[in-house]
Amino acid sequence: MPEAPHTEPAPAAQPAPAAQPRREVTSYVHHRARLTEGQQRAWDRWWPVRGREVADLVDGTVPYDPPAWFGRTGPLVLEIGSGMGESTAAMAAAAPGVDHLAVEVFEPGIAQLLMRVAEAGLANVAVLRGDAVALLRERVPGGSLDGVRIFFPDPWPKRRHRKRRLVQPALAAVLADRLRPGGLLHLATDWADYATQMQEVCTAEPLLVPARDRGASATGLVPRPDWRPVTKFEQRARDEGRPVSDLLYYRE
Ligand SMILES: C[S@@+](CC[C@H](N)C(=O)[O-])C[C@H]1O[C@@H](n2cnc3c(N)ncnc32)[C@H](O)[C@@H]1O
Repeated sequence: MPEAPHTEPAPAAQPAPAAQPRREVTSYVHHRARLTEGQQRAWDRWWPVRGREVADLVDGTVPYDPPAWFGRTGPLVLEIGSGMGESTAAMAAAAPGVDHLAVEVFEPGIAQLLMRVAEAGLANVAVLRGDAVALLRERVPGGSLDGVRIFFPDPWPKRRHRKRRLVQPALAAVLADRLRPGGLLHLATDWADYATQMQEVCTAEPLLVPARDRGASATGLVPRPDWRPVTKFEQRARDEGRPVSDLLYYRE
């Protein structure tokens, strides 16, 4: 029997490649750094008590439930990038009636904050590991925060990295929404052009207004509050002669 002419089957129509989720530009680069022995001890002892993964909160595995975490419904302040926790611990100690959510990605900093919180016996700090922006967007209810603090966010000084800066119009809109009316947004930076960007972004956000009754200028600049501890980042700015700008806005 003659062989049937060999015809190539028509290629099956290929489905269009699945749209790749666009990789989000984040405001940080996560380097998993080694913990010192003391930090590791603090982590082992206190992370299970005080720590929560932002990823679990975002995907709903763990409920976002500050009243349950703190055992009360108090005023709530969220800090983006608590660093080594100096400011967070000092401010939480100075305001025991206020509950503090410290969000950070850098593990040695988180461990250091856990240590400070334990040493000072602070019951009003919860430590969240991961991207604060994702948490704010996905889980923090509108009008639920009394304050947001962003102290010395990474400056990303190179022009091509500017898109990584935290304080951008989209984030300002999210922050304004998550703050309650009368809630406060406090920013500090030692990079002059970032301070300018912050003022432009915040004054352009319709729901934010400079805290004039707390001494803010028309663009939000306030004198450095003496209760904000000098952190390593601020000290470096001082050593290198960069003036620090504090900015304060109300959610209208
Ligand atoms: C320059 S440090 C300042 C730390 C601290 N606020 C201070 O004044 O010492 C900025 C911190 O923000 C953290 N960070 C940046 N983007 C973040 C984000 N989206 N969510 C949580 N932490 C973030 C970084 O890991 C870094 O520790």
